[in-house]
Amino acid sequence: MIDSHCHLTDDRYDADAVIGAFDRDGLEAVVTVGYDTASSVAAVRLAEKHGRVFASVGVHPSELSHESDFDGITRLLSHPKVVAYGEIGLDYHWNEPDREVQKKKFIEQLEIASASRLPVIIHSRECDGDMFPILKRYAPKLGGGVVMHCFSSSAEIAAEYVKLGFYISFAGTVTFRNAKKGDAVRAVPDELLLAETDCPYLAPMPHRGETNYPAYVRYTIEKLAEERGTTFDIVEKITENNAKRLFFKMKGGEK
Ligand code: NI
Repeated sequence: MIDSHCHLTDDRYDADAVIGAFDRDGLEAVVTVGYDTASSVAAVRLAEKHGRVFASVGVHPSELSHESDFDGITRLLSHPKVVAYGEIGLDYHWNEPDREVQKKKFIEQLEIASASRLPVIIHSRECDGDMFPILKRYAPKLGGGVVMHCFSSSAEIAAEYVKLGFYISFAGTVTFRNAKKGDAVRAVPDELLLAETDCPYLAPMPHRGETNYPAYVRYTIEKLAEERGTTFDIVEKITENNAKRLFFKMKGGEK
């Protein structure tokens, strides 16, 4: 299995122990994702230490207030273990930072990402009306690929992103009893489907409310298989191949 989006630099982990259990857990590789400059640097350091950990760097919309500029992030982009730019995006669940500020900083980071040619990992929460037109406009410039991470919108919106060739990544939230995500899960073709945990957040059933771990990507894959009327093994293979093609295509290092 590959967990295409986790936060292994979070304080609540003994990261070396979690990574040490990858063989037991059946994890082939993970992408650990930064959300500000410090966590992006930490993600790169962790990826330097462990062959099967890769890093993504960027500033999350809720962390913008701590950032004066993106120079620190930009300097990390040429690192051989950095496989994506993000997570970046818009989050309208909270009123801070101001939406106009979020949009401005999002576009600034899309510009950096497009120059890098790396895939971009998008955080999109309760903002479809603003997010879609921005991404539609930028799609031709984002040649490295785009991931809609922890996808939580409708099947109709999934289909619009699929038309743009974007990857749709599902997290443990698809396992929640009230999720009703089946239509969105089925709107994504095999070649654009990814699975992730977003750990330590959003632990799937039957661990809801606990700390989440990369190994729990198993529950997301299981649910995706159920909704798509196929087997665990098939969805495991599909999501692994997609993650490898998208993130690991040009990068060295042990897989
Ligand atoms: Ni995340």
